[in-house]
Amino acid sequence: MKMTRAQLYRRIDQAEPGELAKLEKQIAACPWRQGYHIQPVTGLLNDPNGFSYYEGYYHLFYQWFPLGTEHGMKYWYHTRSRNLVHWENIGIAIEPGSPYDSHGAYSGSAVEKDGRLNLIYTGNTRDENWIRHPYQCLAVMDEQHVVTKYEQPVIPEVPPGYTEHFRDPKVWLHGDAYYCVIGAQRTNETGCTVLYRSADLKHWQFLGEIITALPSFGYMWECPDYMELDGLGVLIFSPQGIQAAGDQFQNIYQSGYLLGEPLNLETRAFNHIPFQELDRGFDFYAPQTMHSPDGRRILVAWMGLPDLVYPTDDSGWAHCLTIPRELSVQGNKLIQRPVAEMEQLRRDKQGIEAKLTLNDECKTVVNFHGITYELECEINLKGAEHAGIEFRASATEKTVIQYDCLQHKLKLDRSQSGAALSEANGTIRQCALEADVIKLRMFVDSSSVELFVNDGQEVFTSRIFPSRDSIAIRFFAYGGSADFTAMKWNY
Ligand code: FRU
Repeated sequence: MKMTRAQLYRRIDQAEPGELAKLEKQIAACPWRQGYHIQPVTGLLNDPNGFSYYEGYYHLFYQWFPLGTEHGMKYWYHTRSRNLVHWENIGIAIEPGSPYDSHGAYSGSAVEKDGRLNLIYTGNTRDENWIRHPYQCLAVMDEQHVVTKYEQPVIPEVPPGYTEHFRDPKVWLHGDAYYCVIGAQRTNETGCTVLYRSADLKHWQFLGEIITALPSFGYMWECPDYMELDGLGVLIFSPQGIQAAGDQFQNIYQSGYLLGEPLNLETRAFNHIPFQELDRGFDFYAPQTMHSPDGRRILVAWMGLPDLVYPTDDSGWAHCLTIPRELSVQGNKLIQRPVAEMEQLRRDKQGIEAKLTLNDECKTVVNFHGITYELECEINLKGAEHAGIEFRASATEKTVIQYDCLQHKLKLDRSQSGAALSEANGTIRQCALEADVIKLRMFVDSSSVELFVNDGQEVFTSRIFPSRDSIAIRFFAYGGSADFTAMKWNY
């Protein structure tokens, strides 16, 4: 049942008696609670925020509406981890409801300064006519996780030329100055990113737009993130309003990047090659990266999308975050690989191995089945027209990954994955891939799969909602033969 506006914009302390307990009860009975992904205790999770390292822990916050599965009053919820894979729920970090974040503490980032973690976020407010007024706000967190908000916003105005869609500050330190990118919409309703500079995180100077070769690319760019990687400049953002084109841009909203020469911080010129999607799957949005103490660039994204309904909505919770991925540049592309720490989740360190040759057939293998696991599989194509893996399968359900050797495409099909999802955006995702050997590395959880193809050349991130007894894994090769070598680790 949809909530009214008044219900959506309640804070957690305004919940009805028993409301949270009811959600918790529904959630406890939900078959799709994740095993090793960050998910909300109740209600809805969306963007990762404030991904950082501080006082010996990785800190990862997320957008959270505690009281339901629609987008309502947003909090920052705080989790932390020593190793990027075992996460501990800390609780609420930023509570909305002050004059400058009366209708939500929206997305933002974190940077350490003077021994505190500074959280820079968008305060979302609505006036009596429901017109949005965004403010960029600052809060500081100490070692005890006590968060203190600055009373005044640090960027109180939207500069002329931009609409009220002005949010998601991502801050970084360069030399002795802080820089910040913000997602914006121009008054002509096209999306872009703007740049600010500050010496102290409290006083910010508007420098202007990042000058890209995309003057008209969608109507809003959400969650920008700028970084330098292997001597190149990378601008990640989530544009809205891009039309599907062939296999690309199939989701309701996109997430991708511009790769180029390092951004010129004085002129704001950014010379780059065309926009590329980060992920090929159904559920990936608003990624955020951090720079780890050992020099890695690590990305986490929301495994979901705005404006869609999901089967867990009826169970009082929605969405999760992806596993952390290490980024690198190879040629003209960003490569994503699961962080090495993921191996710490392997319960049977040795793993279970299988080798088989298939010729026009589909087979199961002893001990290859499950709900939460990592599966690595190398497929050597020896004339097969189609070869791949069915997983979370039963007599009636399956999710299918296959390489189509005729079209040279890798495909993920969730048309028979289980509980129905909105089919408005299709049931198959695919991308071109030229290879004789296909390496698949899958991270399967109760209601998701993250598939890394050929060492992170392509990634497919998707929610799936199979029943608990759909646990089979089947290997297949049709129209010819293929060799399979597979390893599986239970999580
Ligand atoms: C992206 C987004 C951000 C915003 C936040 C609100 O999913 O719309 O632009 O800050 O979510 O929850």
